[in-house]
Amino acid sequence: MALRLVRKYTGRFEVIALMRGYHGQSYGSASITGRGGMLREGYGPMPTGASFVPPPYTYRCQFCKGEACCNLGCADAAEYVIDTSTSGKPAAFFFEPMMSAAGQIVPSKEWIHRMVEICKARDILMVAPEALTCFGRTGKWFAFEHFDFVPDIVTCSKGLGGGVPLCAVVTSAEIADGAVAKGYMPFSSHAGDPLLCATGLANIEIVERDNLVENARVVGAYFMEKLLKMQNQYEIAGEARGLGLCRALTGGSSVSIVLMPVRLSTPGSWPRSPPRRTPASVPGP
Ligand SMILES: Cc1ncc(COP(=O)(O)O)c(C=O)c1O
Repeated sequence: MALRLVRKYTGRFEVIALMRGYHGQSYGSASITGRGGMLREGYGPMPTGASFVPPPYTYRCQFCKGEACCNLGCADAAEYVIDTSTSGKPAAFFFEPMMSAAGQIVPSKEWIHRMVEICKARDILMVAPEALTCFGRTGKWFAFEHFDFVPDIVTCSKGLGGGVPLCAVVTSAEIADGAVAKGYMPFSSHAGDPLLCATGLANIEIVERDNLVENARVVGAYFMEKLLKMQNQYEIAGEARGLGLCRALTGGSSVSIVLMPVRLSTPGSWPRSPPRRTPASVPGP
């Protein structure tokens, strides 16, 4: 929906997205998902229009490797991609303020603010997909609030429905009305479904009533303390990171992840013939 919205509103079709970013498996969202392999293989060409820029992933960064701190080389590279691989004026930049599926990668404020500058200079809308991070899970209502910036469009799902399939694209009246005036139709069979919307509202009421945003902040800080302890204690541990209750502890670069078939409780039940996976030595996310 957000992809169609930015295209209709701006009249432009190119977009920028992050390598390693995840947006889903429909052709539209897969086209801005920065992952290859099994998510692309066998599905034919994706809709065109997306160019990918490096993520702000300091732990495994190619740009500031060996340097004491981030040099914003990934933001420079993003600008370079925009200016060399697009018309120079894409419609939008889709980026998760905290990259959830990529492994809870938290960018620096400096990176976000530099990307805001780059996008502003080219009239590129900033879209913050907050499927997983919305409605309190990071210790603030939205992950973008951690970085002192306000995106033009926010998308929400998991944290909005709290278990029921519900999503929303949130934007200003200017963008919403502007797109509708150009013929944008935000309809589908279940758009505005009263039952689902009531569930979403109830979910938000519960988050408010039980002070769950603050809870995510406080318990998340405790969780992080424990993860940091593990990071320092175990050689195989890489980086502890995340926001609120969305946290990760990665494997270090020399860790071997051995993929093994899982036997379910009933002998002989799935998987009958184990998936053939060779032990792989791969860096964690
Ligand atoms: C930011 C973001 N967008 C989209 C999705 C896709 O959700 P689904 O595959 O359930 O549609 C995810 C799932 O993790 C996500 O984190």
